[in-house]
Amino acid sequence: MGRIHTLPMSVVNRIAAGEVVERPASVVKELLENALDSGPSRISVALEQGGVGLVRVVDDGSGIEPDDLPLAVSPHATSKLRVAEDLERIGTLGFRGEALASIAEVSRVVIRSRTAESGHGARLEVDAGRMADVVPEGCPVGTTVEVHQLFAKIPARRAFLRAPSTEWSHSSDAFVRTALAHPAVAMSLDHNGRRVHDLPPADRWRERIGDLFGTPLADRLVEIEASDDSISVHGLVGRPEDDMAGTRLQHLFVSGRPFRDRSILHAVQEGYRGVLLTGRQPIAFLRFEIPPDMVDVNVHPAKMEVRFRDPSRLYRLVLSALRTKFLAMDLRAPLVPPPEPPQGASWGPGFGAAMKGPQSLSGGPAVPAWKPQPPATAGQLTPATARLPGWDEDDAAAGAAVTADGSAGGVGGERAVQMHDRYIVVESQAGIEVIDQHALHERVLYERFKGAVAAGSLEVQPLLIPERLDLSPPDLEVVTDHIGALAAAGLRVEPFGGSTVIVTAKPVLAGRAAAADLLREIVDRVAAMSSPTSSMLVDEVLHGLACKAAIKAGDPLSQEEVDALVRDRRLVADAHHCPHGRPTSLTLSRQELDRQFRRT
Ligand SMILES: Nc1ncnc2c1ncn2[C@@H]1O[C@H](COP(=O)(O)OP(=O)(O)OP(=O)(O)O)[C@@H](O)[C@H]1O
Ligand SMILES: [Mg+2]
Repeated sequence: MGRIHTLPMSVVNRIAAGEVVERPASVVKELLENALDSGPSRISVALEQGGVGLVRVVDDGSGIEPDDLPLAVSPHATSKLRVAEDLERIGTLGFRGEALASIAEVSRVVIRSRTAESGHGARLEVDAGRMADVVPEGCPVGTTVEVHQLFAKIPARRAFLRAPSTEWSHSSDAFVRTALAHPAVAMSLDHNGRRVHDLPPADRWRERIGDLFGTPLADRLVEIEASDDSISVHGLVGRPEDDMAGTRLQHLFVSGRPFRDRSILHAVQEGYRGVLLTGRQPIAFLRFEIPPDMVDVNVHPAKMEVRFRDPSRLYRLVLSALRTKFLAMDLRAPLVPPPEPPQGASWGPGFGAAMKGPQSLSGGPAVPAWKPQPPATAGQLTPATARLPGWDEDDAAAGAAVTADGSAGGVGGERAVQMHDRYIVVESQAGIEVIDQHALHERVLYERFKGAVAAGSLEVQPLLIPERLDLSPPDLEVVTDHIGALAAAGLRVEPFGGSTVIVTAKPVLAGRAAAADLLREIVDRVAAMSSPTSSMLVDEVLHGLACKAAIKAGDPLSQEEVDALVRDRRLVADAHHCPHGRPTSLTLSRQELDRQFRRT
């Protein structure tokens, strides 16, 4: 007897479910897509235990006829396409006719639905693939789908679920992505009985983004647009100074569908190259309009990825949209060399080459260097990490110093002068060093704070009036998970009911900085990390403290302060970068100066 046989349908479904339903967030996504395909004006989502206990999605869309209910939960049954050609022009989010069947295979599903035409509604329950009878039930027009106890009867799958807080974070991400893609539909999200999002229908994308991430953020976004004959991109993107630690605020959409695409995100990175610090991420919400025959959404079971007929066109479009905008905005970092250097007076050989980039990009006449030149391409103006060997010995030997106003001063043989209230220029035998006063001070303070935490000598100041902070549920979980670490870093935080916390003490080092602001900043940074540890959190607190407490660009300093700062530089392990990775100083070597002035 042969050994090959056709699998029973239940096994086929179980296998399919493995592709479609990975975790509660997949259920949220599939149910939301079904709801959206039914043409609703409002959708409400309620979750218990991050979606593991319950996912309920209620819509006021078209509803399902009672006779169709068993088909809705059957595999390969859909109302969204009939013939293979329909796949070439998919106008709905769903089309595989698999989602509900897959979900019903691995949980207990209850559907209640009513169409506008029928006098009453109907209810159908399916438990781990076993379907009960359709029974009449009174309900409003629209559909409610409840998914109870995902994977309860499949221990092997259930074992792969993470803590409810992690599942919640994925589920709320799925909600947020869908809500971003469909601003016109009113949407709400409840978790464990608490309202987390309540989004009114929005005419403009910016409003929906503001409702999700805060109006201040949304208001600062810059609009970009580009199109060629058939495809277009419309985007709201962050200003370079509103950079982020992670990619949490990078979202791509095509035809109402969120999707992932490394190539397009790379184009975004390219668009910001030179205006963002290395390792930082821009904010970018991009929406593509593409004729259906130029994009294939049927390449990924969970439809997370799509395939474009001509991906390089999208890449170019995104890049040119960003660059056109930034050219118009004339963004410059402080260390851009003069745009039109007279012959022979450039900072170094790299500069001329760097000028060619934007020119060839625009394809038109010469444009000024819109990009701040990274030090490496700006000739010998190198970051301090690449200083010439022997620098320290040279410092010591540099002799007495004279300050700008002619008075004697300086630090251990260096002459140090503050310029423009933001830079400190130091002379040494090796050359000339330009220090960013804020970046260096931040680094010095950070090292000091770290030493104090390690020695247990960090001073803490109880607050007379505790400061309140409202957090999103995922953020609240991060904070409560790490209350001990925060306390070690001098920030005492206590739950205050709901998603509010109070800060009852802050490190004395925080000075006048508001404790709640400090916590907010830390939470924002930690939220971008995949699995923050306590020591990462302590580090974030220290970074935040150092940044807040450090002197700012624009602060005038006395000569004593200038000298003290330059002297402190020797005390810290890595004085060459601020805690955020920015260089704290740039060096123009004497050799290079001599070469440029034709002295060698
Ligand atoms: N909220 C809803 N409102 C109206 N009809 C629905 C709803 N949810 C499901 N249906 C009906 O049930 C059918 C099956 O849904 P299911 O999600 O399993 O497949 P699909 O959406 O057609 O395709 P896909 O598997 O790609 O999601 C749908 O085609 C639709 O007719
Ligand atoms: Mg579907």
